[in-house]
Amino acid sequence: MTPAVQALWQQGRQTLRDAGIDNANLDARLLLQEALSWTQAQLMSGGDDTVDADTANQYQLLLNRRAGHEPVSRIVGCREFWSLDFQITPAVLDPRPDTETLVQAVLDDLSDKKAPLTIVDLGTGTGCILIALLTELPAATGIAVDQSADALDVARGNATSLGVSDRMTFIQSNWGQMLESDCADIVVSNPPYIDSNDMQQLMPEVALFDPPEALDGGEKGMDDYRKVMADLSRILRPNGRFYLEVGIGQSGQIIELIEEITVMSISIVQDLAGVDRVVASAI
Ligand SMILES: C[S@@+](CC[C@H](N)C(=O)[O-])C[C@H]1O[C@@H](n2cnc3c(N)ncnc32)[C@H](O)[C@@H]1O
Repeated sequence: MTPAVQALWQQGRQTLRDAGIDNANLDARLLLQEALSWTQAQLMSGGDDTVDADTANQYQLLLNRRAGHEPVSRIVGCREFWSLDFQITPAVLDPRPDTETLVQAVLDDLSDKKAPLTIVDLGTGTGCILIALLTELPAATGIAVDQSADALDVARGNATSLGVSDRMTFIQSNWGQMLESDCADIVVSNPPYIDSNDMQQLMPEVALFDPPEALDGGEKGMDDYRKVMADLSRILRPNGRFYLEVGIGQSGQIIELIEEITVMSISIVQDLAGVDRVVASAI
């Protein structure tokens, strides 16, 4: 007998609960929507509809992946960030909601949103930070930098689907090394910042599915901040500003590093949980 949508959802919820997945109900629904290619509204109104065997099998495969701790965003290949849909692949970090704090911090500091600014994103991944900014700043252009060619391909695809590719260039580089001097009005960066010693303790959703090169920040998570900062004085134009995402408890150490390259005032922005999330200053 073909199962009904409601029954499958219930069964999916139980499968995920048994596997110890948080938000089992939500994830089971999202994966059922994916298997059916249905919207949430269709699912809510079509609970009594029956599902063919192929779709039910497909749902089971998706549930098995989630039970193995693969995040729903990776299973469906898409993550919403700044209310925009970003494609994700194994080559890129799954964008985190906290990173929207960085986007907001840049926008809050800009008095003229129509200025023709050049924004450099060091370690762009999906391109989420830069693309979000370009959707808000119609005259700005962006340079997306990553050491990973595969990540740059993902960012390029997202720039195209989100309508900003004509204002972006993509450069494969070890941080800012390949960039011209004085090329940026603003630099944004969310570098890898997890202490190498903590890499073994990450949740399986992170440890097994985010690329390690997007996570591991070396000793105390500080290695890549030093490398990012080494290029800032050269690539930023006079009075140019930079914004760095920081991990929990890292803002003090980052401020010490910033004080080595600038005498300008340093600001800290907290995320919605009240955690220091962005440190910003100028050159
Ligand atoms: C924490 S992820 C941030 C990705 C994206 N900006 C975001 O916020 O979701 C760090 C990114 O830095 C890139 N990266 C790591 N080492 C790098 C290096 N030496 N030069 C340039 N990019 C690097 C990784 O490939 C990854 O895309």
